[in-house]
Amino acid sequence: MDGIYASFPPDFLWGAAASSYQIEGATTEGGRGEGIWDRFCKVPGAVRNGESGAIACDFFHRYPDDVRLMRELGLDAFRFSVSWPRILPEGRGRIEPRGLDFYDRLVDELLSADIRPFLNLFHWDLPQRLEDEGGWTNRATAEAFVELAEAVAARLGDRVTDWSTHNEPWCAAWLGYGYGEHAPGRKSRIDAVAAAHHLLLSHGLAVEAIRREARDPQVGIILDAWPAYPATDDPADAVAAQSVDALRNRFFFDGALLGKYPDDALELLAPIAPPIREGDMAALSPRLDWVGVNNYSRTVVRANPDGGEPFEMPAANGNLTAMGWEVYPSGLYDVLTHVHRAYAPASIYVTENGAAFPDIQGHDGAVRDPERIEYLGSYLEAVAQALDEGVPIRGYFVWSLLDNFEWSLGYGRRFGIVYVDYPTQERIPKSSFTWYRDLIAAVRVDTRRVG
Ligand code: FCB
Repeated sequence: MDGIYASFPPDFLWGAAASSYQIEGATTEGGRGEGIWDRFCKVPGAVRNGESGAIACDFFHRYPDDVRLMRELGLDAFRFSVSWPRILPEGRGRIEPRGLDFYDRLVDELLSADIRPFLNLFHWDLPQRLEDEGGWTNRATAEAFVELAEAVAARLGDRVTDWSTHNEPWCAAWLGYGYGEHAPGRKSRIDAVAAAHHLLLSHGLAVEAIRREARDPQVGIILDAWPAYPATDDPADAVAAQSVDALRNRFFFDGALLGKYPDDALELLAPIAPPIREGDMAALSPRLDWVGVNNYSRTVVRANPDGGEPFEMPAANGNLTAMGWEVYPSGLYDVLTHVHRAYAPASIYVTENGAAFPDIQGHDGAVRDPERIEYLGSYLEAVAQALDEGVPIRGYFVWSLLDNFEWSLGYGRRFGIVYVDYPTQERIPKSSFTWYRDLIAAVRVDTRRVG
């Protein structure tokens, strides 16, 4: 690892990421409205053991302690999201001041600890009221999103510089509306495609709103990148991998960054077409200050000549995390160099990267997670390699600071570098916390020396 320190420029940001529904809890406090995850968690069988984010990490009350932990870690930046139903309980119209007050306090707490807030507007907790009116399949939701952007930017735009609109719109659209694995639990391809388009449209509209309301904001979008590799040298597998890449990655990257959906994606989706109106493609691809890339693993794809879909993804093998995701650090290198070559954004952040392992507390109370340390170290080597080749990566955010509510897998997957004992809410920094803290400190010393 030591050899890579010099690759990170002195102003590189070391961060950690989290999202509102996964950590806040307090879902009925402060006038918060119902969100689609509150509703989805009540559906029998939707979430492991019927768990929900009702308490989660109780971050809503414990954030000062958690900011202290971030400070101990030496973080430069913390990426979080705001809860839409906390701020606009009905999705639009009436603003709940207590919701904005919470994020105001959080931002001040971060700033006083010298930690840059990276504020994301949407990490999947849509107000239920909007879902009742069609959710993301309804174009009007994109307009309601502008109200959220305006309210938050007007209140916090004097102190928050780093803004993003969405986190992983592929997941919101396809897991939520296409495959039914996430809230709101719909299983319709038409709905998923409409949701994807409206999510991207709302992104474009919100970028403009943030720029109107905030002082000199740096605005971006956070996209998940799952690079797809052909299973064999067979040209049919190469085509299959390209198809998966078109639907999973390029639809969103090309849409937001080039203002065009890829032809192969549109062909694969036909006869379903995104509900594009005149002017939409320009509206959903405004100039951005940065792009966030989330990456954990990769997919391996082979052609499927006889099935419904022209491709299939065999179960991953190799070194797997508790999610069943293959540890594949060179995938992150490939993603970063590809995004740089294909889209040339001014700045790239790795806005999520991390791993779940079955962490347990030892008899001495400590949580040792050497596999996570190895995972993070190998992915950071990939980041360093991309930096060495001139990719403008400005920061790295580990997912996640705390163990938290992992969506339909409930509390059954732990991604934190801090262990959360849910019954007591005790925070126990894992050995990866100490490792990350020491790494951040060592890189700082090293870059100061050479820089
Ligand atoms: C990403 C999500 C994040 C978390 C990690 C493990 O897809 O953005 O909320 O669930 O995966």
